[in-house]
Amino acid sequence: MDQTVKSRIEIIQGDITKQSPDAIVNAANCSLLGGGGVDGAIHRAAGPELLEECRTLGGCKTGQAKITKGYKLPAKFVIHTPGPVWHGGKQNEEALLNSCYVSCLTLASENGCKTVDFPSISTGVYHFPLDKAAKIAISAIAGYMSRHPEIERVRMVCFDARTKEYYENALENLK
Ligand code: APR
Repeated sequence: MDQTVKSRIEIIQGDITKQSPDAIVNAANCSLLGGGGVDGAIHRAAGPELLEECRTLGGCKTGQAKITKGYKLPAKFVIHTPGPVWHGGKQNEEALLNSCYVSCLTLASENGCKTVDFPSISTGVYHFPLDKAAKIAISAIAGYMSRHPEIERVRMVCFDARTKEYYENALENLK
């Protein structure tokens, strides 16, 4: 992977609801009606209008993504994607996780977003192993960005130091 693409990807530790890229990604569930973890945090910070808009979307399939406004969030848009639940790796989980990142970035491009922040999709309640998830995420993001200069910057916003380390390593070792 050429250095310019890698230089457009950043790994930070923080709370994604406080960031102000064009779009933040929500690790949602297929109902899109909110939940715990980062989903709960995003809905709390965005306010009730987010849920109102989500109710109109009719849910979302695992690996796909849907976009809403950001309402009270500093980010203009929220891109909601249900990640795969880890069941041991034999139920297409890796391909579905890759698809989450590509689907979100595709929606970001279609909506004129230049900067996108992701949480670590599926590595919380959905128990996707962090080392595998980080490699899949970074590879999917870098692959997309190498073909899409319109996405100027993607950040992984990691909630804790351990998660950040895995994503930093994945970026460091990206071929
Ligand atoms: N900012 C950034 N990252 C966060 C935040 C936050 N405010 N809050 C939690 N995280 C991190 C978690 O620490 C974890 O690393 O997001 C990552 C994803 O964890 P989850 O939120 O549990 O998401 P996931 O594993 O994809 O499970 C999704 O959980 O909350 C429910 O409705 C959601 O059913 C869905 C499921």
